[in-house]
Amino acid sequence: MRGFFEMNALEALFTRNSVPRLGEPEPAPEQLENICRAALRAADHAMLRPWRFLVVRGESRGRLGGLFVEAALASTPDMDQQQQDRLQAKTSRAPMIIIVIASHVEHPKVPAIEQDLSAGAAAQNMLNAAHAQGVGAMWRTGSMAYHPRVMKGLGLAANEKIIGFLYLGAIVGKRKNLRPEDPAEYFREW
Ligand SMILES: Cc1cc2nc3c(=O)[nH]c(=O)nc-3n(C[C@H](O)[C@H](O)[C@H](O)COP(=O)(O)O)c2cc1C
Repeated sequence: MRGFFEMNALEALFTRNSVPRLGEPEPAPEQLENICRAALRAADHAMLRPWRFLVVRGESRGRLGGLFVEAALASTPDMDQQQQDRLQAKTSRAPMIIIVIASHVEHPKVPAIEQDLSAGAAAQNMLNAAHAQGVGAMWRTGSMAYHPRVMKGLGLAANEKIIGFLYLGAIVGKRKNLRPEDPAEYFREW
């Protein structure tokens, strides 16, 4: 990768943080390629590759927002127009959304939970790769990630689930101060 900001791996891991306010432009092709490649280096028991990803950008974000509204109306038919507009607008919060999907594979030694974890690790690798390149990112779920109408509209099969919506774009506003963390709080010798 040349021509773009790039961070040392440990520095990126130590400083990654979510960016809720994202703007144009979407990640450059080289940056996106790096984010996608990072996903595919997630730990993966038996190399099942139990994941797939949908990239939503441009006009497609409006279609995704429409799907959210349709799903929400199916559950809550009396939702008012303002609530619908708010939900519709959620997918325009960033120039790009990558939907991380766990695709479970039948395997005698690898239960579905491990495959979910692999897809989650892929998502985290993507966040790290985004941050390392100065691309803002945030992992979101919410009720829409688990709504059957959304899953159907996105073409998920019975063996699939949404692990997260990764919002990606340019960082808008100030970076937040990171909370100092003490490993000794969570790690003990045993
Ligand atoms: C599976 C998952 C789902 C999440 N869903 C949301 C969400 O819907 N909305 C939200 O504000 N934060 C959500 N978060 C949390 C943010 O992505 C973020 O990790 C959190 O705000 C902490 O900030 P940091 O990543 O900068 O430490 C989710 C995190 C995970 C791991």
